[in-house]
Amino acid sequence: MANGLDDVVAAETVLSDVDGAGGHLTIRGHSLTELAGHWRYGQVVRLLFDGFFDELPGDGELEKAIGSARVEVFERLQPMLAELPALEIYSGMRAGIALLPDGDSLADSLRLIVAPAVLTPALLRLGRGEKPVPPDARADHANDMLRMLSGTASPALAKALDTYLVTVCDHGLNASTFATRVVASTQAGLTSAILAGLGALKGPLHGGAPGPVIEMLDAIEASGDAAAWLRNEIARGERIMGFGHRIYRVRDPRADVLKAVVRRLGTRYKTGSRLAYAETVEQAALEVLKVAKPQRSIETNVEFYTALLLEAAGFPKEAFSNVFAAGRVAGWIAHAREQQATGRLIRPQSRYVGPVPDLVA
Ligand code: COA
Repeated sequence: MANGLDDVVAAETVLSDVDGAGGHLTIRGHSLTELAGHWRYGQVVRLLFDGFFDELPGDGELEKAIGSARVEVFERLQPMLAELPALEIYSGMRAGIALLPDGDSLADSLRLIVAPAVLTPALLRLGRGEKPVPPDARADHANDMLRMLSGTASPALAKALDTYLVTVCDHGLNASTFATRVVASTQAGLTSAILAGLGALKGPLHGGAPGPVIEMLDAIEASGDAAAWLRNEIARGERIMGFGHRIYRVRDPRADVLKAVVRRLGTRYKTGSRLAYAETVEQAALEVLKVAKPQRSIETNVEFYTALLLEAAGFPKEAFSNVFAAGRVAGWIAHAREQQATGRLIRPQSRYVGPVPDLVA
């Protein structure tokens, strides 16, 4: 289908592969299940960046550099922070990122890697009338993000957030990664490329879905009849958030990874009481979708359990896409560097189907 570029191969990449028929995600030679819950986000950043920067330091050193970058970005943007909470949280983050230098170096990349993780908690706190908590350069990245949000971070939640960031770090040529590569192909700087990715991620058909998942769960609970609510949404031409995918024809493997994380968190956090209910809604949605869209295999995607995990971690639903960006930014930068290295401008063609000028007059 021309409008959605289905089945078009627009780039060669060593970064990740999405096997839509088998339901597997490979990231630089590792299966998702090898990485998620086992590698820290900083280690996965190194995995993705390997070969795309001269003199990339080892895991430990790179993680230290990520910590220092958090402090640098906080200090650099602090004077402007007070202006940003007037915007909605995603736009505020994006505006803050737009203030960063637009270069191509490792230092530029590390500033971009940490910017969503630094800006999101600071803006949330300012929006609540609280002072931002400055980053701690020595802390683990996910742990520090939670600490900047709430003042403390439980090890269980920090581990859950770290697993989430790894799970969403890269995912083939999704819409935001493609947008990032298009801008990178013009040899604009990395900040420009990341801003393109951020724009694409925002939409509810892509990274904007997990917030609406929470709204859907609340609305279904209030209605008291999941199947009827879901059937009615589809009859109104609405999409069920957290279900369906352009590439996966089977269950998104990231959904299972995140569901297991939510289950491990248990009932200590708000989401504990939600999980069992969410599972019944998931079952109802899969059955309703099977009947309503028999021509399409529509399964649970990553966003359904993302919503529960990020809610448990203490993020409000308005900020879920910000946290998605905090993970995906690693993949965006690696793809931008990979695209820059080809030296080729991405410039496809369109087929003109509009009126032709009257040449006789
Ligand atoms: N709920 C209801 N119907 C859905 C659906 C969903 N979540 N996902 C796909 N469909 C239906 C479409 O309505 C369409 O039906 P039709 O043929 O009767 O018109 C059919 O499936 C094909 O839709 P299309 O948009 O071509 O599929 P796609 O593969 O491009 O869609 C998404 C991928 C992600 C855009 C789509 O599944 C979606 O909108 N999901 C909900 C949002 C979401 O969770 N996004 C996060 C993705 S990780």
